[in-house]
Amino acid sequence: MSKVTEVSHPLILHKLAYIRNKETGAKDFRQLVEEVSMLMAYEVTRDLPMEEVDVQTPICTTKCKMLAGKKMAIVPILRAGLGMVDGMLSLIPAAKVGHIGLYRDEETLQPVEYFCKLPQDIAEREVIVVDPMLATGGSSADAITLLKKRGAKNIRLVCLIAAPEGIKCVTDKHPDVDVYVASIDEKLNENGYIVPGLGDAGDRLFGTK
Ligand code: URA
Repeated sequence: MSKVTEVSHPLILHKLAYIRNKETGAKDFRQLVEEVSMLMAYEVTRDLPMEEVDVQTPICTTKCKMLAGKKMAIVPILRAGLGMVDGMLSLIPAAKVGHIGLYRDEETLQPVEYFCKLPQDIAEREVIVVDPMLATGGSSADAITLLKKRGAKNIRLVCLIAAPEGIKCVTDKHPDVDVYVASIDEKLNENGYIVPGLGDAGDRLFGTK
């Protein structure tokens, strides 16, 4: 069963309020998404395996805990996921970065991959998929399916804002994937936007319309 974590830390909620505000311009929006992603990285790495090492301080030798060296990969879903990469990398600098771009064929409704470049040892890595908005959940679920076909075994999904519908879609299809979100919002509207949400994350990040 997936674990769904809503990371309602005061710093995250404060920054999210600015991110949601329609008066926040692209420069600040980008910066704030990066900062919240960094804070989310702290939470999503909470259970990484550790090992004990001997460290010589200026005073004596002591036992310390360090990361056991689990290899990580950050995989943004294009294009809005790109906005979360630098924030994640600032806390997990040794992670490799893969990219997935896909769309739904309007006739077959099947996901069509238009770009997929992943670390070649993806099967051995702890994979963190990032996408700021978990709306219907369709593209995140499809991206995770694609990652599994390419061999990924340990996958987590990190989003800024999720609709309950999106969480259900991903966790029903991928019960082995834990989901981390800064906020679970109310619902999706008839146009597929999250309410209250923040609008179109990609457009706001990149200043497009
Ligand atoms: N994608 C977005 O960028 N915003 C939404 O509200 C839903 C999907």
